[in-house]
Amino acid sequence: MSSTARTVNVGLIGLGTVGGGVARVILRHRDEYLSAYGIDLRIKRACALEPERARELGLPDEAFTSDWHDVVADPNIDIVIELIGGDHPATEIFEAALTSGKHVVSANKALLGRHVERLGRLAAQHHVQIRCEAAAGGGIPIVNALEHALVGNEILTVAGILNGTTNYILTRMEREGLDFAEVLADAQRLGYAEADPTADVDGFDAASKVAILSSIAFHTRITTDDVFQEGIRNVSAADIEQARSLGYTVKLLGIARNTADGVDVRVHPTMIPTDHMLASVSGAMNAVYVVGDAVGETMFYGAGAGSFPTASAVVGDVLELADAISHTPGPKAEIEPFDRVLPLRSIDDLVTRYYVRLVVVDEVGTLLPIMDVFARHGISISQINQLQDGDGSRCSVVFLTHKAAEGDMAAARQELDELAAVEQVASVIRIEDVASWAEGAEENE
Ligand code: HSE
Repeated sequence: MSSTARTVNVGLIGLGTVGGGVARVILRHRDEYLSAYGIDLRIKRACALEPERARELGLPDEAFTSDWHDVVADPNIDIVIELIGGDHPATEIFEAALTSGKHVVSANKALLGRHVERLGRLAAQHHVQIRCEAAAGGGIPIVNALEHALVGNEILTVAGILNGTTNYILTRMEREGLDFAEVLADAQRLGYAEADPTADVDGFDAASKVAILSSIAFHTRITTDDVFQEGIRNVSAADIEQARSLGYTVKLLGIARNTADGVDVRVHPTMIPTDHMLASVSGAMNAVYVVGDAVGETMFYGAGAGSFPTASAVVGDVLELADAISHTPGPKAEIEPFDRVLPLRSIDDLVTRYYVRLVVVDEVGTLLPIMDVFARHGISISQINQLQDGDGSRCSVVFLTHKAAEGDMAAARQELDELAAVEQVASVIRIEDVASWAEGAEENE
């Protein structure tokens, strides 16, 4: 042990998939942390429901507790690692740890996506930090990149595949021509999707993550409630097949753009050109595409979930804090990026192209009232394709639009739904203008 080595004690709350990974990574690499960084990193307390779990991970019996209060009340603990997720008692754990002067490392995107401002202010008051690399993109070091390596840039766009479950489902739908419900059921059977898949498939998980990333990227206050959110339940195999024939791939993207008209932040199924770098991200993998005005386009790729990848992010945060704790003057208090509040752009002001699939009655004159609705809302059609998917009396018709305002499309959609000729507005999918994502970046000299 080096003469300057400093013991840093952590309290680990939650020994599930991620917490177990964190315990294993720390125990496996402890000697290396000591010899390479001079940090004697100890799991002083570990909290779970059952002591067997702590034993199975190789943690000493005296470290175990089933009461999280024991962890936050321990005066020798420097860093609390909160890995139980959910709102309660995670909120109480944050509050108790921060007010007793302990740093908190967490992967809790649902909590931080909504309450990071309040918790961040509490941390600042008590001169400690909250770190959350694992909360967005799992093992991908994207928070670190935005807070450190890219900090000299003005960040223009963050666009990410931030949810592995939905990317896995969309990838299988594309490869196997299956519909959403069929792949979801299989993904649940195989353990890729939760028994209650709502947070993933309805876009809430991705919305929390894009809220966290855009707050950091744009130095402003964005919460999950600010993010327009639409999931993948209505995407069908027919839409994915049509997208492919038109040169697009359908991805559930979290998109955040810092525009002159305000911050545009949204999660929805998106058609992007098949040759865009995000289109090739398949299965349960995550990727975050970032444009900075100086660096231009970048992309960060990796596992967005899982025991060891997420533990990698958690332990990285712990070691950064431990390193600062070991040196004078110690870690800086939580910075407050929330004092700057940029205006948000309403989803109604989004201007984009659309893919619209209608199931219609297949008879003379059907298209006339449909075209009338589009025309009255100022929506110009660039392509029409009638599919041979019906029973002779009905079929799908796909319309691609030129750029139109979301508000106009929403109004047109409602009227289309009411037309006698239209049986169903089966899908409306935004076609993203990916070329605009890099607008504002410097030209290379
Ligand atoms: N449920 C998330 C996903 C992983 O499917 O990507 C944890 O954030």
